[in-house]
Amino acid sequence: MKIIIHGGFFSESQTNQKVKKAKQDALAEIVQLGHKYLQSHTAVETVVYTTCLLENCELFNAGTGSQIQSDGKIRLSASLMDGKTMRFSGVINIEDVKNPICIAEKLLPYDDRVLSGRGALNFARENGFKYYNPETPQRRKEYEKKLSDSIRLGTVGCVALDVYGNLAAATSTGGKGFEIPGRVSDSATTAGNYANAFAAISCTGVGEDIVSGAVASNIVTRVTDAMPLALATEKTLNELKPYDGFAGIIGISATGEIYHADTHPYMVWASYDDEVEVFA
Ligand code: GLY
Repeated sequence: MKIIIHGGFFSESQTNQKVKKAKQDALAEIVQLGHKYLQSHTAVETVVYTTCLLENCELFNAGTGSQIQSDGKIRLSASLMDGKTMRFSGVINIEDVKNPICIAEKLLPYDDRVLSGRGALNFARENGFKYYNPETPQRRKEYEKKLSDSIRLGTVGCVALDVYGNLAAATSTGGKGFEIPGRVSDSATTAGNYANAFAAISCTGVGEDIVSGAVASNIVTRVTDAMPLALATEKTLNELKPYDGFAGIIGISATGEIYHADTHPYMVWASYDDEVEVFA
């Protein structure tokens, strides 16, 4: 049983030690809760539960506390992939809900499994997901000051390997911040979130760079073809170099290899293998 989570990038880390400590503490607590949950639940149930906790934490750019787009609205994207069944589900640019990852989970058994905008919202309401405004005063302040450069690289994600040897990945985001309405994040695509029987990956960073590198699916394919996870991750990140791609990755392989890497400092992450480890 293994679990690793991320909370996006942390460009404030050089200047704001208080926020850094708050993120370390939050990630340590959430990864321990996720690990406890994993003892009696499957990988797919655990990545949903843990990503939900991350969405509910205002420190991260997903769910409550998500960044505001250029027209003043928050739009959320999230996806889930069950490595056992190879089913991928997600929502793109959904408004006025609390936990987009739970709506992705609800979509998992359906034929139509990735919904966007109004269709995603209609599905959510039909399935009992109530109106919720994920905006926080802090995000409104940042939006009004247009501090996009220092805050825009957040997303959350979780990858887990359960006691049965099954893998799953979940990723959730409020997007880049200040984007054009309609822009599609990587987080609800197989570039940002992918899993099969060999490996599971969740990404953070600039969605356009991650989609250009088909990052999560490329890493999983390489591991499937017998490359170790660390090497597969580094090789894939190297391929982003020609365009200075900005990405962070967490992953677990079926052999129990657990790995994280980023192209730029600092992705914030925590894992629970034999013990809790948190980014420094
Ligand atoms: N990785 C989050 C985004 O670019 O939307």
